[in-house]
Amino acid sequence: LTKESYPNIQRSDYAKLEQKHLDHFNSILSSNSILQGYEDLLNYNEDWMKKYRGESQLLLKPKTTEEVSKIVKYCNEQNLALVPQGGNTGLVGGSVPVFDEIILSLQNLNKIRSFDKTSGILKSDAGLILENADNFLKENGYIFPLDLGAKGSCHVGGVVATNAGGLRLLRYGSLHGSVLGLEVVLPNGEILSSINALRKDNTGYDLKQLFIGSEGTLGVITGVSILCPPRPKVFNVAFLGLESYDKVKDTFIRAKAELGEILSAFELMDINSQTVTKHHLGTSHPLEDEHPFYVLIETSGSNNSHDLEKLESFLENAFESELINDGVIAQDETQLKTLWNWRESVPEASQSGGGVYKYDVSLPLDHLYDLVVDTRARLIEEGLLGDDKPVIDAVGYGHIGDGNLHLNVAVRGYDKAVEKALEPFVYEWVSSKHGSISAEHGLGFQKKNYIGYSKSELEIKLIKELKNVYDPKHILNPYKYV
Ligand code: FAD
Ligand code: MLT
Ligand code: ZN
Repeated sequence: LTKESYPNIQRSDYAKLEQKHLDHFNSILSSNSILQGYEDLLNYNEDWMKKYRGESQLLLKPKTTEEVSKIVKYCNEQNLALVPQGGNTGLVGGSVPVFDEIILSLQNLNKIRSFDKTSGILKSDAGLILENADNFLKENGYIFPLDLGAKGSCHVGGVVATNAGGLRLLRYGSLHGSVLGLEVVLPNGEILSSINALRKDNTGYDLKQLFIGSEGTLGVITGVSILCPPRPKVFNVAFLGLESYDKVKDTFIRAKAELGEILSAFELMDINSQTVTKHHLGTSHPLEDEHPFYVLIETSGSNNSHDLEKLESFLENAFESELINDGVIAQDETQLKTLWNWRESVPEASQSGGGVYKYDVSLPLDHLYDLVVDTRARLIEEGLLGDDKPVIDAVGYGHIGDGNLHLNVAVRGYDKAVEKALEPFVYEWVSSKHGSISAEHGLGFQKKNYIGYSKSELEIKLIKELKNVYDPKHILNPYKYV
């Protein structure tokens, strides 16, 4: 898509990039921190899904917080719009420009600042890649309290800016709990820092929370302080086949009761998600027979024989009571990774046919899977799903342990008729069940017109007022959800 695809949005009255602006950026940054030109900027202008594409002509890659501050202050004075960008793995079109906004990439601000082995507090620059942070922590016996399929590209600052949830939220909770402090460059260039905060601090409003999940609309996160738990010594993974969604729910209740403190992930995949993944990976599925639903259970703890005994006895009971029909347990590290791969590859697989419409929703567990059933039925009724039709399939998967479903509509190419059949249908459906239209990916550009399905008028008014306090000229990430 290009900006012609955004017919209802007008470019606001921001300044256009001129030579004097470039001269100024050249005076505050080294030459390798500035990128221009269509080809060089393509990967930064376009999002991971290849669904949204802006037309920025300038990418700035500052190396220090002070440089970020100088850039933002100048842009504010000159009325130039900016998009903060991390690893550009966001899934709601929030990380790329809509028109010609300057892209402010944090990728060169990527150092570990300090690690306290006693408390587990990691302080790092925002542009540190999540996997690099976790590898560093691994060497020190700790783990990053968030894991997701994009770990090789997404940034620590990017996941905080989106308040990403990921695969182990069930165990380690939300970033609203584990982030202790942030260093943020405000839209006027001032540096707001709570990076040295300790675990407990009840001195008035907890301002950092506002930036967690603000999607680059209130400030540029330059540093993060986060509390990391000790790394479990052993991980075990079971991959199960089940015959109904009701049995998935009952298995989840049992898993919580019987696995207790060692349960670290409980992930759902439906048969359609596994069919597209099989097609994409081209390898044989871990379970020979097909089942309507699959669940990946991970346990992690400190004693292998204890953990394995618990997991095996849980599985034995679940088989005996006919909750599960089939299953395997990973016997070694390689098998464990292979089983996880069948879950973590679903996003890539479901978009590999040409595109994907993604819906990331929170729902009461009782209704969670009905959304996939009803959406599928609607697409069939509208004559949009099937061989030689625009929709390849509607697949369901997600973090069922957190009540978070991902509905992916895999398409052969982006298609307005499909979009019209899905939106606002999906949002209305979710709202009617009092769910959230964004469980973990945010609103970004995709859901900018739909915030009212999950937030009240008063909440939206307060969000806009806060935006006006922090960013009165609206230079940060415009045209998105605020
Ligand atoms: P970007 O995509 O670059 O930016 C995301 C948003 O944050 C944008 O609005 C941007 O403006 C803003 N932003 C980025 N950095 C900063 C900063 N330093 N300061 C201010 N604003 C900033 N999400 C989940 O919640 N759970 C998952 O399990 C999950 N799995 C994923 C798997 C794959 C394969 C992919 C591609 C994505 C997945 N995501 C998941 C989406 C998730 O939102 C991103 O991976 C991650 O949170 C974004 O990090 P990023 O550094 O790439 O940020
Ligand atoms: C996931 O759980 O795999 C992520 O949120 C990414 C996605 O849904 O595409
Ligand atoms: Zn997810």
